Amino acid sequence: MKGVILAGGTGSRLAPLTRVTNKHLLPVFNRPMIYYPIATLKKAGIEDILVVSGKGHVGHLLELLGSGKRFGVKFSYEVQEEPGGIAQALGLAKDFIDGGKIIVMLGDNILVDDIKEAVQDFEKQPSGAKIFLKETKYPQSLGIAEIDGDRIINIEEKPKKPKSNLAVIGLYMYDSSVFDVVNTLKPSKRGELEITDVNNYFIKESTMTYSVLKGWWGDGGESFESLLEAGQLVAKTIKDTGHDPWCTD
Ligand code: G1P
Repeated sequence: MKGVILAGGTGSRLAPLTRVTNKHLLPVFNRPMIYYPIATLKKAGIEDILVVSGKGHVGHLLELLGSGKRFGVKFSYEVQEEPGGIAQALGLAKDFIDGGKIIVMLGDNILVDDIKEAVQDFEKQPSGAKIFLKETKYPQSLGIAEIDGDRIINIEEKPKKPKSNLAVIGLYMYDSSVFDVVNTLKPSKRGELEITDVNNYFIKESTMTYSVLKGWWGDGGESFESLLEAGQLVAKTIKDTGHDPWCTD
């Protein structure tokens, strides 16, 4: 399965840190934010990765990441002309994916779990999508899953009255029909094509499965607090375990 890391957007919630620099290049403890999703995908056996970013930043990412040789993966790059949402950026990966299954990770998401087993499960899943959930303290800032029994029945984007504390994290797997779904989307109130609308499509089709993360998860790009918290959690994980799970050497 091929991977896509989405590293676009204006990063407005982190201004002025992001006035000149791309959000995904900001430091999270001892490395740039985007190194974390790279390590997560690599550990899961994903070695062919498309990096999508905006016009002004894709050059910086190329300079930092290069061909991928240093990480033991292969990077390709795609330019998002205008920020238009996660689902719009995902749509740009269609030619790269070329009919297969796809794993998409947001460049600001950091997690400690090894997702290899879930990736293997999705390889065997006949069709549809698979997402990852994790309890959160900030349900009003994220996509939140509504669960009935062991099924997700809906996802609400940044709900005022959250129906659970289970966040849909920024890591998604789809079959190639996702590109047709993206084509049917209309911009949301914030003017973006929402990944939550894509996920709700697969929920309605009853082809959505999910996995709940055991270890911690952080969205480094959500706020100054989440950026700080992500750095502290990375530092603590490395110190407590004496092992760096994001090392790609
Ligand atoms: C996005 C998604 C949201 C998800 C979050 C995870 O939010 O829209 O559903 O929970 O990423 O990081 P955004 O970063 O666009 O606010």
